Amino acid sequence: MPPKPMSDSDMRHDDSPEQGASPVDPATLIRDAHDLLRRNDTGRFVKPSLGQYPHQWNWDAAFIAIGLRHLERARARDEVRHLLKGQWADGMLPHILYPDGPSDYFPDPAFWRTDGRSGTPFATSGLTQPPVLTTAVRMLVDDDPDQDAARAFAAETFPALLRWHRWLHAARDPHGTGLLAIVHPWESGNDNAPRFRAALDALEGVAPPAYRRRDQAHVQRDERPVAGEYDRFMHLIGLYRGWDWDPGALYERAPFLVQDVAFNALAHRAERDLRALAVALGHPTGEIDAWLDAGHSAFEERLWDAPGGLYLGRDLRSGAWLRENDVTTFLPLFAGVAAPGRAQRLVETHLRDPSAYARGTKIRFGLPSVAASSPRFEPRRYWCGPVWANMNWLVLQGLRSYGFDADADAVRRDTIALAARSGFVEYFDARDGSACGSRGFSWSAALVVDLLAEASEGAPAPGPPPPDPGSR
Ligand code: DGY
Repeated sequence: MPPKPMSDSDMRHDDSPEQGASPVDPATLIRDAHDLLRRNDTGRFVKPSLGQYPHQWNWDAAFIAIGLRHLERARARDEVRHLLKGQWADGMLPHILYPDGPSDYFPDPAFWRTDGRSGTPFATSGLTQPPVLTTAVRMLVDDDPDQDAARAFAAETFPALLRWHRWLHAARDPHGTGLLAIVHPWESGNDNAPRFRAALDALEGVAPPAYRRRDQAHVQRDERPVAGEYDRFMHLIGLYRGWDWDPGALYERAPFLVQDVAFNALAHRAERDLRALAVALGHPTGEIDAWLDAGHSAFEERLWDAPGGLYLGRDLRSGAWLRENDVTTFLPLFAGVAAPGRAQRLVETHLRDPSAYARGTKIRFGLPSVAASSPRFEPRRYWCGPVWANMNWLVLQGLRSYGFDADADAVRRDTIALAARSGFVEYFDARDGSACGSRGFSWSAALVVDLLAEASEGAPAPGPPPPDPGSR
């Protein structure tokens, strides 16, 4: 991919000390990203990182494929194909695949006890993750210069994707509310985000199976989830494996059952992409349209908190809102599900607030994963405040699709500046841009490649779709 020279605004982080820093050559950044993705590539799947995450993760694979398609399109398709090998007999697509057996990562494959139900050729976790893979497939298909190959890839993967979405609706919305529930914070991808804290604190009789966490061997303790939360993560896995991962039992009995904004926004967007694939393949769309219609109304009726002007999730067990101002409140723009007036309010009141998400005295790089104004903001702890490349990528595309181009450009600029400054690390401290979490992190590399490709190809990456009509 021939990179276009970066404009000044790409290279400089205005009114910050970076202004005098040596400019970064986008070609170098892309080459470094490519080298990293090659290093993390087993030849069958790309590890999210070599030390901390040495297996295949579900939404990581999607973000990796989105970036890799600019570098090695055939390899990007294989990333998707490999993940689909982990699909369960019932259609569930797990959040971790262990094709190479155990490593020093915990939970190890045996901890999950999924073998009796999965029907997969190798061990997997028993949880799922947001279906960004469907969006990745559409992106791989839409901008492929070889449209015959693209169509063949769409035809090959569509049935598995459709089965996964059917599973999501049957297993996670069996009573037809229009919104999907998650049974574990890990299913959101934002594991220890403070929005889940009240629901986790409410768990009774917390008694995790014996375990020894290993994440702190690779990443500093104060950048990882705290012990009480980790116990609760393991407690939930212990319960569910005791119920043999039966989806009916999980929905009816799980003590953690949440309609999460991030999960539902990413699923809604994925179903718009699934519909586009169906249309391209001449597949009927009635079933998908019904999901989209029900999802749209439920989203706007149930997940918008008018007094605060935020999208917030719901705890189905307590009935309470998941009260936290975090970056996932902007994801309904990526889904195209936010009514334009609500999107405007989100941007004007929150995104541009220098005490929350915009550059000001508290932070110099956006977007913090939790508003810097929140009492629960912890700038270096995993999903409690640091900047994540994937969240920035999702939010900036949503902003662009609603016409907030200057805001989208600022998020893009910060994302590239962070990678140029600290490398392709897992997450970044919003105060000074310093590196946090795992080093050599694949999706940070892949998504920066996608952002740079956007400039060199002269147009935004395919999608996101404009808001639903009305906003329907
Ligand atoms: C971890 O181990 O922290 C992972 O995020 C779980 O998916």
